[in-house]
Amino acid sequence: QKQPKQFTIGFSQCTGSDNWRRTMHENMQRELSFHPEINFVMKDAAGQSAKQIEQIQQLIDQQVDLLIVSPNEAKKITPIVEKAYQKGIPVIILDRRTMSDQYTAYVGAENIEVGRTAGIYANNVLKGKGNVVEISELPGSSADIDRHKGFIETIKRFPKIHLVAKLDGNWDKYSFENKLTALLKSDRRMDFIYCQNDRRAITAFEICKKLGFEKRVKIIGVDGLNGKNEGIDLVDRAILNATIIYPTGGEESIRTAINILEKQPFKRENRLQSTLIDSSNVRIMKLQNQKVTAQQEDIERRQRKIEEQRAISENQSSIIYAISIT
Ligand code: FRU
Repeated sequence: QKQPKQFTIGFSQCTGSDNWRRTMHENMQRELSFHPEINFVMKDAAGQSAKQIEQIQQLIDQQVDLLIVSPNEAKKITPIVEKAYQKGIPVIILDRRTMSDQYTAYVGAENIEVGRTAGIYANNVLKGKGNVVEISELPGSSADIDRHKGFIETIKRFPKIHLVAKLDGNWDKYSFENKLTALLKSDRRMDFIYCQNDRRAITAFEICKKLGFEKRVKIIGVDGLNGKNEGIDLVDRAILNATIIYPTGGEESIRTAINILEKQPFKRENRLQSTLIDSSNVRIMKLQNQKVTAQQEDIERRQRKIEEQRAISENQSSIIYAISIT
């Protein structure tokens, strides 16, 4: 039997410390479990662009066969990704983008579309009139740039919807609590908070709650993960009014990588669908998620059983072999 060729995939992750990224890794690992011929090397830049540049250089030096990059800040990460690409390493950009078109394939949802969806939702829920505060992703990441762009581009069509402020949501470094509190307490009534991810949305909710505004101020987040205290659950419990599912692209990035490495046809732009979840469709989403989780657990249980059986039969054949040579 012909052995499949061995390949090394290097993955440069901008940060690994939140649940959305953890879900991305699980999705990648699930797909990789079908490909024992792949050696997968992941480097986590812990949210630091300088560190990510260094780590991508290390992966280039290591001569990986393919590079997957989820860039921290678009502008800073662009030159090193272009360098890898120019060296002939196939590059897949995952989730966030660089500023360049020098890459082999892109996998991810469209962040401009995420911003537009949030803008349309704001107008609907506010019935055409109200003040909005936006809380960002990491400033300078393509998620931040495009989610903002899509949002303002859309609310421009609604003259009585005003974006009053955009706060820095990079609260791993510092908190937006004081600024949001001041805005909520100001004479101008704040009606809606657009958070570029669900982690910030929970914090925004807690700040509103402290001030007794949690019923009045509407909040939308982004990510819509499955699980307790994640986006879908928060909408179901009416803590958030809505979330936008932003798929991780973990599985798709590995599938695209394998096609590229095996010289099979692949799509250059792999745009994943983002979906708005609010009270009208959250129940069905939750049920669907529960079903998928149960099916996944079932598959994993079967895989473990097959492994156990394989180990037993290998053990038995080595005993038979040992008996036959003695
Ligand atoms: C996770 C995250 C998500 C967000 C994505 C954008 O690190 O901040 O919450 O949707 O990155 O790149």
